[in-house]
Amino acid sequence: MNFSSLPSYGALMLIPILFFPLSKILSGYICRMLQLEYLDLYLIHWPLSAKPGKIGFPVPKDEQLAMDFNSVWAAMEDCLRFGLTKSIGVSNFSCKKLENILSFATIPPSVNQVEISPLWRQQKLREFCKSKNIVLTAYSPLGAKGTRWGTNEVMDNETLKEIANAHNKTVAQVCLRWAFEQGLSFVVKSFNKERMRENLQIFDWGLSLDDYKKINEIKQRRLFPKLEMVSPNGPFKSLEELWDGEI
Ligand SMILES: *[C@@H]1O[C@H](CO)[C@@H](O)[C@H](O)[C@H]1NC(C)=O
Ligand SMILES: *[C@@H]1O[C@H](CO)[C@@H](O)[C@H](O)[C@H]1NC(C)=O
Ligand SMILES: *[C@@H]1O[C@H](CO)[C@@H](O)[C@H](O)[C@H]1NC(C)=O
Repeated sequence: MNFSSLPSYGALMLIPILFFPLSKILSGYICRMLQLEYLDLYLIHWPLSAKPGKIGFPVPKDEQLAMDFNSVWAAMEDCLRFGLTKSIGVSNFSCKKLENILSFATIPPSVNQVEISPLWRQQKLREFCKSKNIVLTAYSPLGAKGTRWGTNEVMDNETLKEIANAHNKTVAQVCLRWAFEQGLSFVVKSFNKERMRENLQIFDWGLSLDDYKKINEIKQRRLFPKLEMVSPNGPFKSLEELWDGEI
């Protein structure tokens, strides 16, 4: 179908409603719930589908289904073509899963959002995404301390504390400055005004070669391996399968 030949905005909105459930859901969602005309970025949350019904996260193990990447990505592309979103991307995808998307995508993903911190630097994925022009976004760059599912391991790491003290900065600032210097984008959240301010104060100083030496020596380990996504009857029977060996 040649979308560019469609006559008017009204027709553009009708067609996804008739043929593409995902763009239909999104158009309804954006207009009514978010009260926005469009999104800047729309991501596939996980490389996993759920049985139709109530939406729960994490998807209960007996409701996990293999994602039909071809049709889901086609619907994502439609969302972009119909102006519902400016960019489309994925999240929690390995190099191999990204490669699969790239093998048939007409519009390649702009972003892959994954766990990245000095404790899980994602070297392989970073090189891959750089070579494919995909922006990597770090989620939980501070380990999500204080959340139900997070960890104190990043904020309490002695190596990071040492670096922070040497610069008269906080561990959070060291982590964010590190991500910034790596060319990553990141999502970081606080309800605390002082910490919000702190998180912005990372642009007028830098990490030294010595700091990098220390950071590069931190033993690497995925902090959120996500066993919740692994199940005997689901698409991923082991963590190896979920991350395609990138663990
Ligand atoms: C990626 O996985 C994490 C951990 O389960 C999850 O919290 C996050 O919502 C997922 N994706 C995005 C875009 O945040
Ligand atoms: C944290 O810091 C310690 C002490 O410097 C280091 O040995 C360790 O590898 C770091 N990482 C983790 C996950 O604790
Ligand atoms: C360390 O940082 C704090 C907070 O930014 C500042 O108030 C203080 O003056 C700094 N101390 C030194 C020795 O630079």
